[in-house]
Amino acid sequence: MARVFSSLAVLALVFYMAMASDDNPIQDFCVADINSQVLVNGKTCKDPSLVQADDFYLSGLHVKGNTSNALGFGVTPVSVTQLAGLNTLGISMARIDYAPFGINPPHTHPRATEILNVVKGSLEVGFVTSNPENRHITKILKRGDVFVFPKNLVHYQRNVGKVNAIAIVALSSQNPGVITIGNAVFGSKPDISTDILAKAFQTSDDVITNIQMKF
Ligand SMILES: *[C@@H]1O[C@H](CO)[C@@H](O)[C@H](O)[C@H]1NC(C)=O
Repeated sequence: MARVFSSLAVLALVFYMAMASDDNPIQDFCVADINSQVLVNGKTCKDPSLVQADDFYLSGLHVKGNTSNALGFGVTPVSVTQLAGLNTLGISMARIDYAPFGINPPHTHPRATEILNVVKGSLEVGFVTSNPENRHITKILKRGDVFVFPKNLVHYQRNVGKVNAIAIVALSSQNPGVITIGNAVFGSKPDISTDILAKAFQTSDDVITNIQMKF
């Protein structure tokens, strides 16, 4: 009997570890109550009897994002902040627009795996595996292609065409979060000491100061 219980426990643990997304809901839905001041893991639920179709609805993903910035890309997120009905459902999406040769710079999503579909143009994409290998896995994608960026890994995209490109992505969290490497390292408030970054990147204080000024 004890053996049965211990194998069940191992099975439960393995199953738990294989869950690479937000916790499962324990009700049909929990539409986020955007006015609630209560702090919980996720958002508190709106009274289910007051829930309307519009709580599960969002319009506007046909509209191009603003790519008029130094990097030439724009993200239109559809996470729990934009779509209250996503609360507790462990999923979200986004539209990404790229100007010609625009980039979505190296970043990670601390809570989500991302799957990307190119709907217009062509993209060079890649991610890097963890230490010590730091293997760079990269590919050129064309319209209709799909690529997956495993949870937490640093990844990026670049439009390699002369025309605008568009991708639609899905993410395995209602609130995937974004850590853009450049912003986190060189644009923190307050700054990480210049000499720490100079040593970390094996360069001079001047080079670091120059980069910090851009963030
Ligand atoms: C796009 O973003 C730029 C830079 O933030 C801004 O100046 C411009 O007004 C925006 N364009 C639109 C159409 O929102």
